[in-house]
Amino acid sequence: MKNVALITGASGGIGRELAKIHAATGGDLILVARRGDELEKLKHELESAHGVQVVCIPADLTEFGSVDHVYEKCREAVSTIDILINNAGFGGHGKFHERDWDRESSMIRLNVMALSELTHLIVPSMIKAGHGKILNVGSTAGFLPGPLQAVYYATKAYVNSFSQALAEELEETGVTVTVLCPGPVDTGFSDQADLEGVQAFKSAADPQTVARIGYRGMQQGKLVVFDSWKFAFLLSWIVPLLPRKMVLVISRKSMEKS
Ligand SMILES: NC(=O)c1ccc[n+]([C@@H]2O[C@H](COP(=O)([O-])OP(=O)(O)OC[C@H]3O[C@@H](n4cnc5c(N)ncnc54)[C@H](OP(=O)(O)O)[C@@H]3O)[C@@H](O)[C@H]2O)c1
Repeated sequence: MKNVALITGASGGIGRELAKIHAATGGDLILVARRGDELEKLKHELESAHGVQVVCIPADLTEFGSVDHVYEKCREAVSTIDILINNAGFGGHGKFHERDWDRESSMIRLNVMALSELTHLIVPSMIKAGHGKILNVGSTAGFLPGPLQAVYYATKAYVNSFSQALAEELEETGVTVTVLCPGPVDTGFSDQADLEGVQAFKSAADPQTVARIGYRGMQQGKLVVFDSWKFAFLLSWIVPLLPRKMVLVISRKSMEKS
């Protein structure tokens, strides 16, 4: 296999679109998600459209040992992973103390633990090869606290911070790290996270555009990539200057259901 991209959460949404973009460049793929049937459908679509090789690894990345399992399966299939895209993730709406703890802890295991563990397993071989690209899917949610999605926003703050720190550590190794920070995107995410009626999701971006922007940013070795200049401007230049309480109120209102 050549120019191999490992993509988690490739069975739908942004991950599926990233897989399509990579296949269109002639690159091979390893696809990970729970829904093996969706991965198999995508495999057949991409292999017949682009003549690439696709390996599917069905896995629930919240389960203990699952990341090791995925890594072992990758090692059986390929000698090098050229691109790692940590995209799998989910959110959840509601007050922290009223939400189901199993759901919250699974979110931390997927959005934070699995992403970090997979990166920790794969980076050494990228350094040894002298090249590699990592794209972590963070979020605009990672730039501020998120009342009514407290854990989700905190997991994305971790992804945003971790990715930038890692990028700096890997300077001069040939390995780049990019964090993609989308605003609301029209995928299965909002149903999973019970976000129906949340104002911000009424004007969500399409996943094809977001994936294209993220993939291009990763290829260019950019550090932080937004899918909209408005979010980039507000979160980088305005929000940090506002009083904390004001940020919390605005953030909470943006998550309230109408
Ligand atoms: N949509 C948005 O508004 C938005 C905004 C900013 C950031 N993001 C981030 O973008 C990323 C992709 O989300 P999306 O919008 O494309 O949502 P999506 O359509 O719900 O896709 C999520 C992907 O993650 C996989 N996944 C979920 N739980 C998993 C688990 N336990 N183990 C393995 N794979 C799992 C899903 O596949 P299976 O169900 O088959 O496992 C699916 O392929 C996430 O990290 C999300 O936080 C989304």
